[in-house]
Amino acid sequence: MQQETLERLHSRYLVQATWTASIREQLFDSLQIQGKHKLLEVGSGTGVVSAEISKRYSFPSVGIDIDRSAVTFAQMNDAASLYLAGDGNNLPLQPAAFDVAVCHFLLLWVEDPEKILDEMVRVTKPGGWILALAEPDYGGRIDYPRELETIGQMQIQALLDQGANPYLGRTLRALFHSVQLNGIRTGLLGGEWQDSIDEDQLESEWETLAQDLSDLLPADEIERFRQIDHEAWEMGTRVLFVPTFYAAGRVPLI
Ligand SMILES: C[S@@+](CC[C@H](N)C(=O)[O-])C[C@H]1O[C@@H](n2cnc3c(N)ncnc32)[C@H](O)[C@@H]1O
Repeated sequence: MQQETLERLHSRYLVQATWTASIREQLFDSLQIQGKHKLLEVGSGTGVVSAEISKRYSFPSVGIDIDRSAVTFAQMNDAASLYLAGDGNNLPLQPAAFDVAVCHFLLLWVEDPEKILDEMVRVTKPGGWILALAEPDYGGRIDYPRELETIGQMQIQALLDQGANPYLGRTLRALFHSVQLNGIRTGLLGGEWQDSIDEDQLESEWETLAQDLSDLLPADEIERFRQIDHEAWEMGTRVLFVPTFYAAGRVPLI
């Protein structure tokens, strides 16, 4: 992947990570995951979440991603963590090497999420935690004004076309049970809408969306939706909610 694309992705991942920051904090605090834990992130991308966690909790963390260019980018941005190229379906790591294994916006993109979770379990110590920190479910998306519901439907199609599962979120609880985790907790991130708008963030959202929808809608139609969206944000009437699930479970003690 080109440097420019990586920079754009990194900016997008930084924004996404702000949406889900509260759940990371809540989970790490309530599960008392802190101190000398060794953490693995599978599908670490440009390293946003791994870097944040290792910095905040002083963890030695390892990020692994199938995309070599993302791994190189992450390592250059975050010297404190170790980034490796590898496939989550077959992690090049020893069994029971970590205390915590996490993923963030990964499982919707993979063909066999159970296999990925199985691998996360294999490399985590008995009694350690497996955390899926954010997995969206676009089937439950809420848009207001209702004209913008079309965007939601198109986004589902665009994700399906890219090979992703837009409905992964609702399956997360079942997935955690299927890999025999204990003490499973599953929940949803909340929503809050404030009257101030972040123009840069909105712009970046639309850049991604316009790209995703470019095969499905003519450019002038995308622009029309962008204007309706922008006006609604300016008027303080816009609601956009994509249910985003999280799950935590413990690797059974042998
Ligand atoms: C949406 S990105 C999320 C990146 C990062 N977790 C974050 O939230 O900033 C999904 C990442 O998963 C990686 N990925 C997809 N399939 C993978 C696999 N089988 N093994 C490892 N990484 C994978 C992609 O290369 C991509 O970097």
